[in-house]
Amino acid sequence: MVQLTLPKNSRMTTGKTWPRPEGATNVKEFHIYRWSPDDDKNPAIDTYFVDMDTCGPMILDALIKIKNEIDPTLTFRRSCREGICGSCAMNIDGINTLACTYGVAEVKGAVKIYPLPHMPVVKDLIPDLTHFYAQHASIQPWLETETPAPAKEWKQSIEDREKLDGLYECIMCACCSTSCPSYWWNGDRYLGPAALLHAYRWIIDSRDEATGERLDELEDPFKLYRCHTIMNCAKTCPKGLNPAAAIAKIKKLMVERTI
Ligand code: SF4
Ligand code: SF4
Ligand code: FES
Repeated sequence: MVQLTLPKNSRMTTGKTWPRPEGATNVKEFHIYRWSPDDDKNPAIDTYFVDMDTCGPMILDALIKIKNEIDPTLTFRRSCREGICGSCAMNIDGINTLACTYGVAEVKGAVKIYPLPHMPVVKDLIPDLTHFYAQHASIQPWLETETPAPAKEWKQSIEDREKLDGLYECIMCACCSTSCPSYWWNGDRYLGPAALLHAYRWIIDSRDEATGERLDELEDPFKLYRCHTIMNCAKTCPKGLNPAAAIAKIKKLMVERTI
């Protein structure tokens, strides 16, 4: 198991205020969490001003503009810029969401941006997701079969394929798990909503032949049963998925197999 570690400096300070763009009339203020392992300073909140007349409409557009034109040291992850890769997940205005699909105009006043909560920070807005990915790998997110592989493909009826809707769309952004109080408190042993949503996705896949073993693995006071249906996960998921419902269905299967 990967040990959770916290940044050695945990007290916030007021950081640098960068100059306002000269002559701009449509300016948005950004307060952004900064922390670097390369110096021995506490985390700080830097203030930036962005001319929105020369910037795209999304939070990610503003972050890229800040990095390109104001402060090249600002560090964040991004790739697809269209809500597919999950890498730009961060806490924006108190909500875990994707910077590339969240509009600047949705935030009244200054935009406050932090890394996903309750995760170790690598630098600035980049959380360390090593443990999160290890938990995902632990549920064996692939097809398990004993039957010899068919010559062409594993077939699935249209009805069985539809059972995967609302599950396969997960992009592993970690917004849900990092919004879950149970995961904050027991993230070392509780798998959290993202990994459990994926566990359910494979449990109900009609082609999978390891359903019993998958349920056995989850029959554990911490891995599954730390979900207390607080529902933060469903509320925050930027893809509109409902991990809490998937977790409830796993619990139901656990009960049904004992009857
Ligand atoms: S419903 Fe369960 S997984 Fe979702 S936030 Fe609440 S405790 Fe966490
Ligand atoms: S369920 Fe939603 S919030 Fe959770 S990892 Fe998947 S896409 Fe992200
Ligand atoms: S950059 Fe890929 S989801 Fe935002």
